[in-house]
Amino acid sequence: MNDVFPILQEEPFVTVARTAAETGKKVYVIGGFVRDLFLDRHSKDIDFVVVGSGPAFASRVAAAFGKGASTRYYKNFGTAVVKYKDFELEFVGARKESYRRNSRKPIVENGTLQDDQNRRDFTINALSISLNKSDFGKIYDPFNGLRDLKDKVIRTPMDPDITFSDDPLRMLRAIRFATQLHFAIDPGTFSAIGRNKNRISIVSKERIIDEVNKMVMAGKPSVGFKMLDESGLLKLIFPKFVELKGVEKVNGKAHKDNFYHTLEVLDNVAKKSDNLWLRWAAILHDIAKPVTKRFEPGTGWTFHGHEFIGAKMVPGIFKSLKLPLNEKMRYVQKLVQLHLRPIVLSQDIVTDSAVRRLLFDAGEDIDDLMLLCEADITSKNEEKVKRYLKNFQLVRQKLKEVEEKDRLRNWQPPVSGEVIMKTFGIPPSKLVGEIKTEIREAILDGKLHNNYDEAYAFMLEEGKKRGLTVKEIVPEPKKPDNEKE
Ligand code: CTP
Repeated sequence: MNDVFPILQEEPFVTVARTAAETGKKVYVIGGFVRDLFLDRHSKDIDFVVVGSGPAFASRVAAAFGKGASTRYYKNFGTAVVKYKDFELEFVGARKESYRRNSRKPIVENGTLQDDQNRRDFTINALSISLNKSDFGKIYDPFNGLRDLKDKVIRTPMDPDITFSDDPLRMLRAIRFATQLHFAIDPGTFSAIGRNKNRISIVSKERIIDEVNKMVMAGKPSVGFKMLDESGLLKLIFPKFVELKGVEKVNGKAHKDNFYHTLEVLDNVAKKSDNLWLRWAAILHDIAKPVTKRFEPGTGWTFHGHEFIGAKMVPGIFKSLKLPLNEKMRYVQKLVQLHLRPIVLSQDIVTDSAVRRLLFDAGEDIDDLMLLCEADITSKNEEKVKRYLKNFQLVRQKLKEVEEKDRLRNWQPPVSGEVIMKTFGIPPSKLVGEIKTEIREAILDGKLHNNYDEAYAFMLEEGKKRGLTVKEIVPEPKKPDNEKE
């Protein structure tokens, strides 16, 4: 276990300890910082408990830091946060809390360090270190948090039914910490989650999704989702995900369990990318499988169109989970919709034009799409996986070749609507769009090369076909310097 003394000789602890001595207040470091210190994870967010008023003490600390410090007071919570350099120091008065049944907002009274530790969520989060002269550096560990850290166990300090009922968000925190830290949840604590799961209804969706996202960002997020499922929480917070569960068998033919398959895909993505939204695309890529599932005699199980229906379901799911309804959502939608395209390509003869279309449709997200699609290759049959991955390599190779040749990523057809309008002397209209589409399609099909002159000549023909006459020959517009190759 870590020696705590060296770090206590550094800022911000030196100033906090000096302020404690000057004010005669008892002050302790507590919570996540202490836990992480023993796990060799260093954080700049530090929580302090003051026996007395947190905000009053915080203002003394800020004054001691001088100009570089700023303080925010949260009157309703009786806390204050001092920002100094890249530290965020939160001061709270030691408190005794009791909870009403229908609210996460506690009734707060002043208390001792021990009272404050009693109201914490887990033994490993209740650890505290004294900054007071009389016992400087002493670790207060009334619930054997150090032992639980060593044994890698998440356990509530008090009766878990009370700890979870007091603040039901803690049920999710238990699972999130277990997933992030590779800890197990003590069986007594875990079974209390099952008993108290319905209390999650008093927690706001914003706080729920915060925890879920932290779990999704863990090294192996499937661990957390399996625990959420087992405890019954997943059905309450994300029922659509649970609908993926189960295997049906008709005429001896079974389909994959899409829940466990999705979790495998998610873990595969997590090994390669820290992009939260790519991980969400993995979670949602097969979300429409339950609604598109059919058994077709002769063919077996099919999920026709699940990528399109899935993409359509994304906004509703984002809304219900309080995920952002912005470009992140559109990115997830796009990946869900396109997730079969690279693999379909790999099963066929890979033509240049199919690759060009894929590049055009995926745009700058092509690398993420390829990653998702490769992660989607899961099967118990290792030979099959190997064969698929090999074909997939071919698609990657082809993508590279076509891209080098045609540079289609973030591509715009070489003849713009402006040029079409000027050439034929026509106003903005459907016709302009039509001609633009013809040019794009011809390039994607490989009938034209991706350059202005060929596209312009083609445009003149397309105009002629539509009865348009040329008013002006427009040369290739000059590109701004930053777009030149
Ligand atoms: N805490 C709690 N119950 C909660 C939230 C927090 O008892 N529902 C206590 C825990 O002692 C926790 C501390 O408040 O350690 C600080 O909470 P927070 O900053 O949310 O979490 P950390 O434990 O610091 O971990 P992380 O930063 O990973 O969220």
